[in-house]
Amino acid sequence: MRYKSISNKFFINNRKMLINKLKHNSVVLLFSSDEYHRNGDQFFPYRQNSDLYHLCGINQEQSILMLNLFDNAKEEFLFIKHIDNLQRIWHGEKLNKEQASEISGVKRIEWIEEFETALLKSMEKAKTIYYIESPNLISFDNLPTSNTRRINAIRNDFPEKEFVSINDFITEQRLIKSEEELVQIKTAVDITKKAYHKLLQETEPNMLEYEVEAMITYEFIRNGAEGHAYSPIVASGKNACILHYTENDKIMKDGDLLLLDFGAEYGNYAADCSRTIPINGKFTDRQRECYNAVLDVFNRAKSLYVPGNNIDIINEKVGQWMQEKMIELGLFTQEDIDNHTGENALYKKYFMHGTAHFIGLDVHDVGSKQTTFKEGMLLSCEPAIYIEEEGIGVRIETDILVGEEPIDLMSDFPVSIDEIEAAMN
Ligand code: GLY
Ligand code: MN
Ligand code: MN
Repeated sequence: MRYKSISNKFFINNRKMLINKLKHNSVVLLFSSDEYHRNGDQFFPYRQNSDLYHLCGINQEQSILMLNLFDNAKEEFLFIKHIDNLQRIWHGEKLNKEQASEISGVKRIEWIEEFETALLKSMEKAKTIYYIESPNLISFDNLPTSNTRRINAIRNDFPEKEFVSINDFITEQRLIKSEEELVQIKTAVDITKKAYHKLLQETEPNMLEYEVEAMITYEFIRNGAEGHAYSPIVASGKNACILHYTENDKIMKDGDLLLLDFGAEYGNYAADCSRTIPINGKFTDRQRECYNAVLDVFNRAKSLYVPGNNIDIINEKVGQWMQEKMIELGLFTQEDIDNHTGENALYKKYFMHGTAHFIGLDVHDVGSKQTTFKEGMLLSCEPAIYIEEEGIGVRIETDILVGEEPIDLMSDFPVSIDEIEAAMN
């Protein structure tokens, strides 16, 4: 195993928390993510459904979690893939029943072939079926993902049952990070820091952006991360103004800035970091002005990650501060704002995304813009300015743990101009 797993106590407790919120005489059903076909006989690297992982810690494809909540019999089942010798020769071992039970803390482990029979038996008594609603993200045909497909089929077979989504319950649990989750997240952050230091030392003019991407990937993998938590952005010059630029294939010019957005995934948990550095190791005067404007807002914004606030409040405040900075940078005047009649505030031309999102098993984790912050929630803080006409894009992003004293998990990553220039030279 590439990384150290969370103990099964965590998953046992997650199931207990969920069950306590549900009605009796019901069945909870969760299906693992699909394996996505790439081409020929190849598949994309497998990534487990985050909710299934949260409830049982199993990373294997073709897994089903079924929780029976009957008055006289509460029972947890986990169905896993059973492989034959030929599959073993080509792909190696899969989890055996003892291993699956050890990871998940589920006592009844069955082979996947037993699922249909077990389901029929549960359906004899169940009045309510609890399921996970997942977005249809597969391809331009809007194909339903595994949980939706399976539940739709069961709904067809048992139209008289009540079907209730457990998304809100699971969201509530995933939002607050336990100590064990924080260990995984801090490891992801630490590996991300190693990659940052490497690229600060090795970035030079005329390299290709993908050479920097390769440095990041190298540090991630050699330090035990599964890889990137999301497609890394290595954007020089005006490419930084393309928010989700992932081509990473241009020459990095002397005198330009380089915007990096990269984060390791460790034990399924994400780190999410953005930094902006001068390709030749020295900021120009104009780049300094823009950088320090964002850095100033970044430092002020960090104090907003306290219990009681929410993402909408942060976006509102940071938008105001950014607007003041943009006036100082000469991007528009107060008079322009007063005369502006458009639907979007003027500052949105240069800062078009939000400042915060939740982070966890998914880099853009569960939780909404109106979710009230509580101690133990983890969010990004990522103010930015993009001035395409000047070929300047600056984003600074860290991961903050909500508390009366918010904790910046990346507080030891070089971020001031002095720190960055010193690390590069
Ligand atoms: N890396 C994606 C984001 O910053 O939201
Ligand atoms: Mn990011
Ligand atoms: Mn982010």
